[in-house]
Amino acid sequence: MKNLSLNHLSKTYFDPYAGKHVTAVSDVSLSVNQGEFVAIVGPSGCGKTTILNMIAGFLPVSGGEILLDGQPVSGPGSERGVVFQSFALFPWKTVLDNVGFGPKMRGLSKPECDRIAREYLELAGLANAAERYPNELSGGMQQRVGVVRALANNPEVLLMDEPFASVDAQTRMTLQEELTRIWQERRPTIIFITHDVSEAVFLADRVVVLSKGLVLKELNIDLPRPRVWDALMEDDAFKAMSAQVLQLVRSA
Ligand SMILES: Nc1ncnc2c1ncn2[C@@H]1O[C@H](COP(=O)(O)OP(=O)(O)O)[C@@H](O)[C@H]1O
Ligand SMILES: [Mg+2]
Repeated sequence: MKNLSLNHLSKTYFDPYAGKHVTAVSDVSLSVNQGEFVAIVGPSGCGKTTILNMIAGFLPVSGGEILLDGQPVSGPGSERGVVFQSFALFPWKTVLDNVGFGPKMRGLSKPECDRIAREYLELAGLANAAERYPNELSGGMQQRVGVVRALANNPEVLLMDEPFASVDAQTRMTLQEELTRIWQERRPTIIFITHDVSEAVFLADRVVVLSKGLVLKELNIDLPRPRVWDALMEDDAFKAMSAQVLQLVRSA
């Protein structure tokens, strides 16, 4: 069981060029339940990546606290998996070994790592790519391997920072559908950062709109699942929800 709560979280950076502190996150409180899919949207520079890095334990908080099941987060942990927009797969390892890397680091035997990696590759429709190397894959497929690699650690919390931002629109839609499908099957808690409003509404149970380091609004997304683009694209509730979030982001 992993409940996540951010209590009056803040972060200031020292900017050596300006010679002063800048506030990236002012005062953010948010509580996320086990198995929930939460998207955080907001314009560039509003503090999204900073919040994610603090939850991941990569960056110390300046004020407030982050609790995982009531315990303060003080550094990275294997129960939290992270996927970034750009991340490196190991170029000298096959897809299978890239995905099996986390399990290997946990000390599992090679056959066990392979079994886990194949299971997750299967789940993401990547079974055929197992023996290939990253440079033999398209950007979209590499991104998909990156997501699968994070999932193979079976994290209770998956932290994703604009993971699909650099793939083409068509591939992105497929990845979004796959992610919701895998999430429904495995039910990790997901915090997904994006500046793409329709992506946030498509994916999440709840969308948090961020503005200049503060939560502007939280909206529940009561659209039925499984969600597929062919249906949702024309759906009035989806369009209304997206328009509402877009309005908020524009005012942010
Ligand atoms: N390492 C850093 N040093 C100084 N300022 C930073 C650093 N990282 C981010 N910032 C500033 O903090 C604010 C929030 O950045 P960030 O969290 O990356 O926003 P977002 O991910 O929403 O685009 C921005 O004004 C950015 O310039
Ligand atoms: Mg960012």
